[in-house]
Amino acid sequence: MRILIKGARVLDPGSVDEKKDVLIDGEQIAAILDPSDASPSGAVPEDTGDVQVIDAAGLVLVPGLMDIHVHLREPGHEYKETIATGLAAAARGGFTAVCAMPNTVPVNDNSQVTTFILEKARQANKAKVYPAGAISKGSAGTNLAEIRDMQQAGIKAVTDDGLPVANAQLMRRALEYCNGLAMPVFVHAEDIALVNGGAMNEGPAATFWGIKGIPSAAEAVMVARDILLSQLTGAHVHFCHISCKESIDLIRWAKQQGIRVTCETAPHYFTLIDEDVKDYDTHFKMNPPLRSEEDRQAVIQGLVDGTIDAIASDHAPHSKEEKDLEFDQAAFGIVGLETSLSLSLKLVHDGFLTLEDLVRKMAKNPARILGMNNDIISGSRADLTLIDLEKKHTIDPGRFVSKSQNTPFGGMAVQGRAVTTMVDGKIVFQHP
Ligand code: DOR
Ligand code: ZN
Ligand code: ZN
Repeated sequence: MRILIKGARVLDPGSVDEKKDVLIDGEQIAAILDPSDASPSGAVPEDTGDVQVIDAAGLVLVPGLMDIHVHLREPGHEYKETIATGLAAAARGGFTAVCAMPNTVPVNDNSQVTTFILEKARQANKAKVYPAGAISKGSAGTNLAEIRDMQQAGIKAVTDDGLPVANAQLMRRALEYCNGLAMPVFVHAEDIALVNGGAMNEGPAATFWGIKGIPSAAEAVMVARDILLSQLTGAHVHFCHISCKESIDLIRWAKQQGIRVTCETAPHYFTLIDEDVKDYDTHFKMNPPLRSEEDRQAVIQGLVDGTIDAIASDHAPHSKEEKDLEFDQAAFGIVGLETSLSLSLKLVHDGFLTLEDLVRKMAKNPARILGMNNDIISGSRADLTLIDLEKKHTIDPGRFVSKSQNTPFGGMAVQGRAVTTMVDGKIVFQHP
């Protein structure tokens, strides 16, 4: 079966940004043609039965978006999300691949769990999964997990995400070991003692609501530590969900020194601030928390100047029961797969990023961080996302295909979304 995507603006940063027709044959991109080549009288007839033509006029075709920070919850917490529902949500959000965090039950700290996740993903037949394995057994922070075994089974990164690695010596050993395996270590930067049971950002808003605060320093002191451990070991450290100015300043400095660090932020950190937390609405509760307006500006600046490499959602589904509690008792986390692209496109509409920049942060850099490529060239796998930049719509959690609806963005007006998501040449999502 061949598919011809006709008339799109084809945008692969650093390689192409032109109106082209893209021919897919089986699982691969077969050819990138000038529009005239693929006209009815040209090389690829539209009406030869086995060519399905997608009219993509007015749309942008980009390398498949990758969300390198999602919680799929299976095994163990299938009531929040399953691998199948999470990957359907990814496809609906325009993502052709996700990196799944290991804080499942049991934790993905051995190759059997890794193999289980990959098998479930294969059956789901939607977006692809690149699993992350745990750094430490049970993510308990004491002994290293079976990292090499898991790498052979298919993990692309390690992390104890959800929890920090409190012991700097264990982190050093993990970095040395993973450096030898050419695998990045994803850091959930959080000093638990400084968090001290807080539930939102420390500052006037927390004081106003009487909610215990989490200072930015709880994140930044661990960012500083792991920058120095990256320098010590030469290993690739990737900082997850960076939320505050101090962390961004430290990472900017580290990059200037040539230290091998990368980082991601999430759409909520450049869209919302702690002042938006109102009436104890736990849909605004996540870890790290929404920060100050100054921090939000610093996140945007970090994206603009390249300090922040990637946008990842930290998709963290939770049930109604776990969110419908007192603010300090409710679970940390919000879903993000089905809102990430629309929220991020606002940076383009507002003139902070070019579309090319955004594609780097949502497709190219995420792949590179995990040691892979993601290119629109003939012969490569047909993992592609078609985007409508203009379509105005309202975020409606009732339409999510994720099992959970814990989002602060319900009812928000946004512009632009994915209309078609293709994985290995197969359409896994098509906007109705
Ligand atoms: O908000 C969060 N949710 N932060 C984390 O670190 C963990 C995540 C989760 O697993 O729910
Ligand atoms: Zn985390
Ligand atoms: Zn996370």
